Amino acid sequence: MKNILLALAILLASQNLYAYNSKGMKVYKKLCVSCHGSPFRGAKMHTVLEWEMIYDESDTAIKDLHKSDKEAMEILNDSYFTKKKQSYLKKFLIGSAKDAGSVPGCDGNYCGY
Ligand code: HEC
Repeated sequence: MKNILLALAILLASQNLYAYNSKGMKVYKKLCVSCHGSPFRGAKMHTVLEWEMIYDESDTAIKDLHKSDKEAMEILNDSYFTKKKQSYLKKFLIGSAKDAGSVPGCDGNYCGY
């Protein structure tokens, strides 16, 4: 029994090493890839602090950043990009920021940098 618990603990700990917000990544893949490249590359546009500063303005900060870009706004104003999806995206971007220590690897959701 003890061994099982230990194995479980190790499994959970090692999974955490690769933890990122997979729902947020999905949102990124749908809306941002075409202009900003792969999810991890996109998240690494900024550090944790920079993302937090961007999001400090408002939870819809990503939209605000693209106000003057008509093509981007058409994509970002899609009804798919709900408040909830925006908050998933925020978690992904901050969690996988340049200095967040996330290690891109292969799992069921994503493979590569
Ligand atoms: C249609 C193309 C397009 C789409 C889609 C798009 N962007 Fe952008 N994004 C741009 C352009 C163009 C800029 C302005 C680049 C600049 O001025 O350096 C920009 C700027 C940004 C910036 C500011 C860059 C900086 O240096 O601070 C961030 C952050 C950003 N985008 C994130 C996103 C995220 C996240 C998504 C998906 C929700 C997204 N973008 C979707 C085209 C796009």
